[in-house]
Amino acid sequence: MSFTARRRFIGTLSALGLGAFWPASAFALQPREPSRTAQGTAMHRAVHQLLDRPVVFDDPVALRILGAERVRKLARDRALHETAGSRAMRAFLVTRSRYAEDELARMYRQGTRQYIVLGAGLDTYAYRNPHGGSLRVFEVDHPSTQAWKRTQLQEQGIALPHSLTFVPVDFEKQALAIRLRQAGFNRHAPAFISWLGVTMYLTRDAVMQTLAYVAQSCARGTEIVFDFSLPDAALSEKERLARNRRAARVAKIGEPWISNFDAAELAGDLLAMGYSQAGHFGAREANELYFANRSDGLGFRGSARIMTARV
Ligand SMILES: C[S@@+](CC[C@H](N)C(=O)[O-])C[C@H]1O[C@@H](n2cnc3c(N)ncnc32)[C@H](O)[C@@H]1O
Repeated sequence: MSFTARRRFIGTLSALGLGAFWPASAFALQPREPSRTAQGTAMHRAVHQLLDRPVVFDDPVALRILGAERVRKLARDRALHETAGSRAMRAFLVTRSRYAEDELARMYRQGTRQYIVLGAGLDTYAYRNPHGGSLRVFEVDHPSTQAWKRTQLQEQGIALPHSLTFVPVDFEKQALAIRLRQAGFNRHAPAFISWLGVTMYLTRDAVMQTLAYVAQSCARGTEIVFDFSLPDAALSEKERLARNRRAARVAKIGEPWISNFDAAELAGDLLAMGYSQAGHFGAREANELYFANRSDGLGFRGSARIMTARV
């Protein structure tokens, strides 16, 4: 079966609710295909630069990395990005990126000099790193997505800074610890780690192994920020329907959501793993922090949660 046909097949199984009859490993990203959801989230960040004022997440490279032609198309399709669903999704995506970079800035002021972007997709921090060579950035991603990103960067003429190291890793199959060590990551010095929009695509084991590596092998003071989905039982009927609609869309393109976590249980698991603190927030707190007093009504409406855990 071709990769595309396989994706369609897996997407259909998942959209029909038959994912449970198929081994979770069958859902993992395939070796030669870049993540299409990474393209989707990058487009939302670019649309935010084009349409929303004031911007919550200031990222001019989000436009450059897509290239002029795609940006022209985004501007032409403006109505598509003004729907309630698209605005809510965009607000969530810019919240998580803004929050992660706010945390990174705070940790940099306190002396942290390493940033690991897990499941980086088309994240652009490394290409607008305000700290230059004094903050090392490790972009970790699935090898196929990373290879595609590198081509994209080259095509758009975006230079690779010396402070950036690419680390290709499949979280389901390869040891992050070994790959990071080979890439020059110093686990004895504190790091800031973001892991945005990834845990829902991975098996629970892969998520827990990565979190345990950070807790047990990284230096005290290291912090990780990641978002996660809640189980159906924790959602209102409206939230469940909205989530199911999105889930069906990503399943259709072959990247189904396969993991969710009870928030309190996850925070407990993190403490048991060795983190000294773990706290999470969602739409209410994000809206107070980043979307108060806007005249355009942009705001985070979903049920996703953002966890911050400190070693
Ligand atoms: C929705 S995208 C999010 C990308 C980026 N963090 C963002 O916020 O735009 C999901 C990311 O998870 C990565 N990913 C999915 N499965 C993976 C795996 N098994 N190993 C490594 N990365 C994976 C994809 O390559 C992609 O970059």
